Amino acid sequence: MAKPKKYYKCTECGYKSSNWMGKCSSCDSWNTFVEYMENKSKKNTENISRDITVKPLIEESIETDDERISVNINEVDRVLGGGLVKGSLVLLGGEPGIGKSTLTLQIAHKLAKNNNKILYISGEESANQISIRAKRLNAFNENIYIMSITDINSIHEHLNSSTYDLVIADSIQTIYDSQYDSSPGSTVQIREVTSSFMSFAKRENVPVIIIGHVTKKGQIAGPKLMEHMVDTVLYLSGESNNYRLLKGHKNRFGSVEEVGVFSMDGDGLCEVENPSNLFLRERPINSSGSTVVPISEGNRVILVELQALVAPSSYGNPQRIASGIDRGRANLILAVLEKRLGLNLSERDAHFNIVGGLNVKEPALDLALAAAIISSYLDYDIPSNAVFFGEIGLSGEVRSVQADNNRIKEAKKMDFSQIVLPKGNIKGNRFEKVDLHPISNVNELFKLIK
Ligand code: TYD
Ligand code: MG
Repeated sequence: MAKPKKYYKCTECGYKSSNWMGKCSSCDSWNTFVEYMENKSKKNTENISRDITVKPLIEESIETDDERISVNINEVDRVLGGGLVKGSLVLLGGEPGIGKSTLTLQIAHKLAKNNNKILYISGEESANQISIRAKRLNAFNENIYIMSITDINSIHEHLNSSTYDLVIADSIQTIYDSQYDSSPGSTVQIREVTSSFMSFAKRENVPVIIIGHVTKKGQIAGPKLMEHMVDTVLYLSGESNNYRLLKGHKNRFGSVEEVGVFSMDGDGLCEVENPSNLFLRERPINSSGSTVVPISEGNRVILVELQALVAPSSYGNPQRIASGIDRGRANLILAVLEKRLGLNLSERDAHFNIVGGLNVKEPALDLALAAAIISSYLDYDIPSNAVFFGEIGLSGEVRSVQADNNRIKEAKKMDFSQIVLPKGNIKGNRFEKVDLHPISNVNELFKLIK
């Protein structure tokens, strides 16, 4: 068989060259040349053209449910959309040290206990290091096989001669195809290795989990391109404390709305059944600028603490720093409060923080944000048994949000008895032992706090 011909292509302008160039001679971009194989791509095109089928778009063409394997860890199953789909390729991303290897070994162990055979390919750690982790997790099981080989061709050679119910590749940055000169972790290697695992998963109907390290910028190190190739992308994150969030970023087989909450303990990742407890546990009582908001993450509600610090600015240009919330949104709420309530906010510094490192994007945060700003500005405490949720419009109006019942229920469950919410969300809501304070604009919020 003829050796595949190598060529290089600029990722900026598409210019092709038989030699690698540091600077593209067509568009002058630096370090944009990526290696390709000519014959290989031709072969792929031939295969694709033979497989073409055309179907009418009719309701009957919906296929029955995908076959799933439950991993027996509720928080993981939920984020996956009900378990691992057979034949699917899952990317588990996260910063180094966040707990990806720990989580996958725990998944492997749960499945192995149900008589599933697992292959754990490790290019990062020796079999001994994995055994030490397994000891800590109490995850020894003879159905888990460790492979410390990183050449994808040897991996496939082994996979062709054995059968597994799950394959874990730890990590994409260490597995390589010796056909290519580029080093492991390069764009070419990541693309080729990912696509070969994809073909394996589909051909053998076996789920594959690939671990990928994420850079500080939040991208899977190297190419973002991997995200497009796989079926499901999950991210494991957690900034401070020992909690970890598992979030769906893309899921061909379920919703990306789900979030799993874990705490990293001495014996691995433990599911957190009541995340609100975790995020509120060190909350100061009766402190100005601190509010609690029930946020809706997928199908669940989590109570989190939002803090604002509004202080006189020592510089000409007031500082606006936000962690866990969108700075643009915070600026907008500051502007609305300044205009509608006449508060002198534009000359003050304002700092915002969601305690625990969660990132909250939903508009229901607005009312808690406004309450925290007013409370810090006036230096008035907000009662520690109060929660706030609602969206604020440019005229200072408070608009209704979704999931009102669930937010009230979670607040009540966590012993909050004062609930400040949009008037529009009050309809039909009857709750015992909680006081609902419906409001329709920021002036009413101001009066309530003062
Ligand atoms: P690891 O799974 O190796 O992270 P990743 O694969 O994402 O790089 O987890 C590493 C960290 O987790 C390490 O700092 C030790 C900690 N850890 C625990 O706190 N408890 C445990 O039971 C285990 C196995 C790890
Ligand atoms: Mg690891």
